[in-house]
Amino acid sequence: MSAALLPFQAAPGTENAANIPVVSTGELLPTSGNKNKDAPLLFTPYKLRDVSFKNRIVVSPMCQYSAHDGFPNAWHLAHYGQYAVRGAGLIIVEATGVLPNGRISPNDLGIWKDEHTAHYRTIAQLAHAHGARIGIQLAHAGRKASSYSPHVTGGEHTKVAPENEGGWPENVVGPSAKQDWPLGAKVKEATKEQIQEIVKAFVEAARRAEEAGYDVVEIHGAHGYLVHQFLSPLTNQRTDEYGGSFENRARLVLDIVKSVRTVWPTQKPLFVRLSASEFVPSGWDIEESIKLSALLQSAGADLIDVSSGGNLPGGQTPYHVPGWNVPFAERIRKEAGIATGPVGGITSGKQAEEILQGGKGDLVLIARAFLADPTFVDEAAHQLKVDVSYPVQYGRAKPRPAED
Ligand SMILES: Cc1cc2nc3c(=O)[nH]c(=O)nc-3n(C[C@H](O)[C@H](O)[C@H](O)COP(=O)(O)O)c2cc1C
Repeated sequence: MSAALLPFQAAPGTENAANIPVVSTGELLPTSGNKNKDAPLLFTPYKLRDVSFKNRIVVSPMCQYSAHDGFPNAWHLAHYGQYAVRGAGLIIVEATGVLPNGRISPNDLGIWKDEHTAHYRTIAQLAHAHGARIGIQLAHAGRKASSYSPHVTGGEHTKVAPENEGGWPENVVGPSAKQDWPLGAKVKEATKEQIQEIVKAFVEAARRAEEAGYDVVEIHGAHGYLVHQFLSPLTNQRTDEYGGSFENRARLVLDIVKSVRTVWPTQKPLFVRLSASEFVPSGWDIEESIKLSALLQSAGADLIDVSSGGNLPGGQTPYHVPGWNVPFAERIRKEAGIATGPVGGITSGKQAEEILQGGKGDLVLIARAFLADPTFVDEAAHQLKVDVSYPVQYGRAKPRPAED
């Protein structure tokens, strides 16, 4: 991918092979006068296991549907690189298929073969060069797999892609042979052997992420993808040990986390994204999420990335409410005793700071606000009246420090 690019060194403060200075950005600058005296939590470093984050602003995973055969390319380097340059504390690479048939679409990223690893390493090096931490969301789409990319359909992302369009409609598995998405593929019930293969694929993917230098792995357990399909009694109708009771429905994600922990270093954090509620009567809800979060922590997870919805058409996710998952994150944090990172409708530094000050989360995840403005971190610093480090190459554009 980057054969034509000069390599750069990965440590902030060093110079790269092209003699370009690199600097950790978005980091609180040493106090000058009154400035930065009472640093906001958003710009106070945070540590999980042995990994420290220079600030608490996280770029939420966002599918780009821009890959071929799972490989990251120049788009991904530019896309994730921009957030590293502009000071995000942690960038989580989008849902990345642990198996080819676990991709949502033929254009998803993947990490199911060793050939992928080097391409993820390039992104990690660019992130590290700017002092950012880099994570990757490991995913299996289950019954939502083999869909057209929304870039092809103009937005719809559950319409089955046939084989001659790169899809695999004959090879779509879920907990049960049940498809609620009207345009989705016909689903086969995963056999126990297939479930074991899926767990193994998460492990192999985590091993590759470690080899590529990633700081965080996140298991995608939300938005109606495979793990969530197993959790919900509405999509999991199995009668074996993976279905029925809460313990049985939770077995897959707990197996994944425990197994990934055997290869993912103890020094590095593991996140799980959950849909705290699916907003459907009798569906997966916050009470079960709290119970599961405590079990996930015992299994080796360090933070719950708290989202919601996405499992069934008609789920009433309150997307219009600012910070709609914050109350869930607060409850999980307090009642399960695990760190949380709420996502959804967080659009300003002030709002993010209030969430942290209120003890409702430990990190904040931002998605669309970053797409709209990659300088979100600088903007947040400006709102909170602190001075943070800026990319040296862009120094002449640095806004004057905010007045008290
Ligand atoms: C373009 C786009 C792609 C997304 N892809 C993913 C994904 O790969 N994994 C995931 O868990 N959520 C994904 N999401 C959901 C976001 O991570 C986030 O949870 C959601 O957009 C709400 O946060 P926001 O209000 O800050 O945008 C995606 C969202 C957008 C806008």
